[in-house]
Amino acid sequence: GARGSTGLLNMEGALVARDKVGIQDFVLLDETTETAFMENLKKRFDKDLIYTYIGALVVSVNPYKDLDIYNSNQMDLYMGVNFFELPPHIFALADTVYHAMMLELNNHFILISGESGAGKTEASKKILQYYAACSPETDLLTSVRDKMLMSNPVLEAFGNAKTLKNDNSSRFGKYMDIQFNKALGGHILNYLLEKSRVVHQNHGERNFHIFYQLVEGGEEDLLHQLGLERDCLYYNYLTQGECAIMSSINDKNDWKTVKNALKVIEVSESDRTDLFGVVASVLHLGNVEFDPDSRGNASLDNNTELRWLLGVNAQTLQEGLTYRKIRAQQDQVLSPFNIDHAIYVRDALAKAMYGRTFTWLVRQINESMENKDDTMKMVIGLLDIYGFEVFYVNSFEQFCINYCNEKLQQLFIQLTLKSEQEEYEAEGIEWEAVQFFNNKIICDLVEERHRGIISILDEECLRPGDATDLTFLERLEEKMGDHPHFVTHRLADITTRKTLDRGDFRLLHYAGEVTYCVVGKRDRHTQHTERLMGQSKNAIVREVFCNADADSRRRPETVATQFKSSLLKLTESLLAKDAWYVRCLKSNESKKPGVLDEALVRHQVKYLGLMEHLRVRRAGFAYRRRYEVFLQRYKALCPATWPHWLGLPMDGVQVLVQHLGYMPYEYKMGRTKIFIRHPKTLYATEDAFERCSNACCLLRTKAFQMDVAWKAAQARKEVERRDWAVKVIKKFINGFINRGDARSTDNSEYLAFVRQSYLNRLKLKLPQTVLDKTTWLTPPSVCQEASELLRKVYYRLMVRKYVRGISQQKKGQLQMKVVTSAIFKGKKDSYPQSITRSFLDTRIGEADINPKVLAKGTAVFSLQYSVPVVKYDRKGFKPRPRQILLTTSAAYLVEEAKIKQRVLYTSLKGISVSNLTDDIVVLHITCEDAKQKGDLVFQCDHLFEFLTKLSIHYRVSVINVLLNRFALLRSITIEIQSGKQGAVDFTTGPEPLVYKDKNGHLMVVRHPPPHTPYPLKSG
Ligand SMILES: Nc1ncnc2c1ncn2[C@@H]1O[C@H](COP(=O)(O)OP(=O)(O)OP(=O)(O)O)[C@@H](O)[C@H]1O
Ligand SMILES: [Mg+2]
Repeated sequence: GARGSTGLLNMEGALVARDKVGIQDFVLLDETTETAFMENLKKRFDKDLIYTYIGALVVSVNPYKDLDIYNSNQMDLYMGVNFFELPPHIFALADTVYHAMMLELNNHFILISGESGAGKTEASKKILQYYAACSPETDLLTSVRDKMLMSNPVLEAFGNAKTLKNDNSSRFGKYMDIQFNKALGGHILNYLLEKSRVVHQNHGERNFHIFYQLVEGGEEDLLHQLGLERDCLYYNYLTQGECAIMSSINDKNDWKTVKNALKVIEVSESDRTDLFGVVASVLHLGNVEFDPDSRGNASLDNNTELRWLLGVNAQTLQEGLTYRKIRAQQDQVLSPFNIDHAIYVRDALAKAMYGRTFTWLVRQINESMENKDDTMKMVIGLLDIYGFEVFYVNSFEQFCINYCNEKLQQLFIQLTLKSEQEEYEAEGIEWEAVQFFNNKIICDLVEERHRGIISILDEECLRPGDATDLTFLERLEEKMGDHPHFVTHRLADITTRKTLDRGDFRLLHYAGEVTYCVVGKRDRHTQHTERLMGQSKNAIVREVFCNADADSRRRPETVATQFKSSLLKLTESLLAKDAWYVRCLKSNESKKPGVLDEALVRHQVKYLGLMEHLRVRRAGFAYRRRYEVFLQRYKALCPATWPHWLGLPMDGVQVLVQHLGYMPYEYKMGRTKIFIRHPKTLYATEDAFERCSNACCLLRTKAFQMDVAWKAAQARKEVERRDWAVKVIKKFINGFINRGDARSTDNSEYLAFVRQSYLNRLKLKLPQTVLDKTTWLTPPSVCQEASELLRKVYYRLMVRKYVRGISQQKKGQLQMKVVTSAIFKGKKDSYPQSITRSFLDTRIGEADINPKVLAKGTAVFSLQYSVPVVKYDRKGFKPRPRQILLTTSAAYLVEEAKIKQRVLYTSLKGISVSNLTDDIVVLHITCEDAKQKGDLVFQCDHLFEFLTKLSIHYRVSVINVLLNRFALLRSITIEIQSGKQGAVDFTTGPEPLVYKDKNGHLMVVRHPPPHTPYPLKSG
């Protein structure tokens, strides 16, 4: 119930289900009885499972209906798959043979046997189609392949006929080498065409298809040219079986197929004409009749058919058919034929002509599909050879056919035993002898030199004097009278004798008894007519008979001997190859679909030696598998081997079977395989496996689905990822190319990327202080505006942060410093040094101010700041230490307890300082009367602090800084008292000094600031 959720699992399920019908390898039957064998075969046949294995041998049962198991899907399914993994199939065999060949680089053959109508030819066609479908596609290959496939309809037209057993029975043996290397190629050997069919057909049978095809399907022109009537019934050679027209055979259509196939295999137009000429000639020849003359000799009745014949002079031919020339001493004597003899010669000529033309055709096909590559070729041979047959009257050809089957059976036994033995040896397992029937004795009976039936036949044919069929029989009785497989009327016991005619002999073949009639076993001389054919206008006839003349003196080989030697050659060639087998079984005699005639099949099973083969395969150990394969299948049955066995597979198998409780006699460990003696041992294991896998099934299905889904998802992701990458890279390149343009779909993403990347980098490289004005990442052009805005915002932010971070007190300081800066920055040389010095609230503590001063001024006195100064007298510029106290309205000059001078801010005209580094301050005071003191000159260490505070209270910026830094002498005019002027002069010198100069001015000398460009004043 867990199966079936996906298509794949459905298929898998179906395969397993098919597998479950009976047993797919007979080797695994519980018992090797015929009954068990038949039961299994029937069970499978009823489910249309027509293939079953015996080891690597394929048993095939003719279903007589088209099964949909040969389509290209099936071919794909079997391609390269382990033989035992899928249900038995002819394709599995074809594939395995091919891979064995590629692996071992050696030659192989597939022997397809079975009785007429069992499906041999169909099987061989399926194999050929499989190889054709699997071969690589190139023009050359395709043409050779087409030729190989097209050789079939041609050969079947000329070599197949309707028989009682099979509407398309192959009447010749065919061995085809399929050649593989870089190119594909083929070579066909044909064996023993049933030529007697050309002149005689049993009731219900037909001549070869081609005759009917030509008469029924041939174009008017062609028929006219060949002198043919469009009427099969008009020809003696076509009517003996009384079934010229068959509903099951479409001769007209087949004619078209054959004509086309002849073109494909490159039979030239003139050859085609000659070929049909031969076919027509045979038909005409069949209609030649003889009348007895007065002496009883044959004479040709005056029909005109001969003019159509063979392109040979009619008169000559007529003579050839009615008498022959015998050399008697010096003279040539004409020896006329009686009618029987004339008919015999006529028929012999027809058979020879047709038979040789058939061989010519095979040669033609071989040339066209030849593999012209000289490098090493490997071949897979396909042997589709007529099966063992028993008729009411068994002719000479039947004898050959059955002999052939006897040979092949011999080969089969040899090879099977050999390969079994070899496998045991290779695996290091002791070989146990197998009992089987060896048919060598029968082969010898037929083919032994000097003693065999064929030898005796040869002798009889070539013996001068009156050899007859009966003398031949006597010779046979003489030579092999005591042979257990040979019986004649005279030799038989009473009961057997009743079943034998006097002219018969019977062979006890391995597959059954067959009675042969000796009549007509011997060839009569027909060489003289053959010589005539060498003069034919028909190129094919001329070609195939051209050797007749040359060979006439040699002792000719009988057909039987020829056949024997060609068979020997074949078996030799086969023995050098690895053998594979397909055994075809005919399901019923009436060609009915789905019917299995048990008696019929049982009989075939017997004479095909299937039970024999099965027994050989089962003799020692029924089942064997490579360790890897065995372990892979059953590893789940043992905790030590599940899920993975990490050691050698052989050791894994050993552990596994011990865990399963195999007894020592039940199995053996070979070098690469485990051998299991009885199938039941394997069944127990298989049953356990079944239970286990049912339990695991759900799990496996789920795991399988997940695996599939996961892999699919991974694959999808990967594809998406690549697509995405391709897109992005393309966009990026496009964007880069168009980066200077206005924003568009081409560059928008690129620009976004540029912007983002700029911002990311900028973030890491921001200036750390407000004062750092140089660190700012140069923006790309798209970001110029944004960068500028950002820079402003960022600096504002930094300032804001800084400002927020400063204390109230520091703020007061800074506010004062701002004022200081406004007054002095860039004007007074000592200003820069002052910046870092903090301003204090006051420079003199209240304790250091005389209490009287403080007490005096409480009303008006709200003290803001006080600082010690050195005051220079207005008269002599004497320095006097004083204190200056600032209040909200006035500055007080204080000496100890005395207020020496009060300067209301309102009376202050201005304040002057030099631009140098000195700290002399001049307060200019409005002086309205003489009593009033004049301008105040003093030195103050905290000049900037003092003046800033004063400026804040005074509120008016009237502080004047001398600016002329290039004048050597600067001067501040002071009013000493009302109307009396003085001055303070400033200059630079090596030593700082303050003194009263000769001119009565106060002289202030200071170091020049370090950067002063002018020379120092000397003196
Ligand atoms: N696998 C198959 N599937 C369907 N029908 C088949 C199959 N095999 C054989 N047949 C049918 O049986 C008929 C006879 O098969 P085929 O000609 O292959 O027999 P054969 O063994 O070659 O006989 P012969 O010895 O007379 O040549 C075919 O024409 C076909 O109708
Ligand atoms: Mg056939």
